Amino acid sequence: MPVASFGDTRAIGVFDSGLGGLTVARAIANDLPGESIHYFGDTARCPYGMRSESEVRRFALEAARWLEAHAVKIIVVACNTATAAALPTLQQLISVPVIGVIDPGARAAINSTRTRRVGVLATELTVRNGAYTRAIHNRDAGVDVYSCSASSFVSVVEDELATGAHVHKRWLCDSDVFDTPAVHKLVETTVAPLVHAGVDTVVLGCTHFPLLAGPITRVLGSHVRVVSSAEETTAELFDILSRREQLAPANTQPKHRFATSSNNMASFVAAGSFIFGQALNSIEQVSIAELEQLGQAV
Ligand code: DGL
Repeated sequence: MPVASFGDTRAIGVFDSGLGGLTVARAIANDLPGESIHYFGDTARCPYGMRSESEVRRFALEAARWLEAHAVKIIVVACNTATAAALPTLQQLISVPVIGVIDPGARAAINSTRTRRVGVLATELTVRNGAYTRAIHNRDAGVDVYSCSASSFVSVVEDELATGAHVHKRWLCDSDVFDTPAVHKLVETTVAPLVHAGVDTVVLGCTHFPLLAGPITRVLGSHVRVVSSAEETTAELFDILSRREQLAPANTQPKHRFATSSNNMASFVAAGSFIFGQALNSIEQVSIAELEQLGQAV
């Protein structure tokens, strides 16, 4: 990233239905090292991908209001499902800028494809909503888009992270730790329509899926490029914050804070540290009652 610095030390707010959005938070911490991050993962209500749009919209509004109340300078909806269901609503109701991950993911796919045949792997809601197809076609209406619902990947990731505490000690975002024979089989069955369609690029349209990038890449083969939205999202963040003169001053020591609705904080910290690539030192629990109250506020 080019060097540009101003003076806003407030944190960047980031939220997801659970742990997956930490793949985006990790990219932000790597690419914008002076920026503080305030992350919320709604683990108690994860997964979002099989819920109705109106319910996900309500949950997303609660999460965004919670971050807004904690004085963040911008909010990243690090969840494709919540982006598909709620982005315009959040942009209308929240007082700071709100960006999602679908446009950046679409941009990554367009920049990668040579044959203009792109596959999208996402949750059921994101596929049903058609947000990726629209975002890709807004940039290039001639691209053939093949979408594939892979909601079961979310449970694979969340369940493995909840139980595999020994693995998390590696604190290394190593997608191969999930590559068991059962996961390989599931990936093979799920992505079969994309293999059949002959796409040359697959966008991981769910922030949990980069954790399965190892098996996904192996099943698709080396001729298919697998892209995700994380790096494009940080590039967009940099752009917005520098234009608004809201980057943190150079050499700022960032403060990262984490919050979750999960009742199992130890598991969130272990799994979260593994994904984020650093220990989650500052962690807070948020009750569903508190969130629901925020959703009601006008
Ligand atoms: N990580 C979320 C996404 O990017 C969805 C996971 C879920 O179903 O809650 O779509």
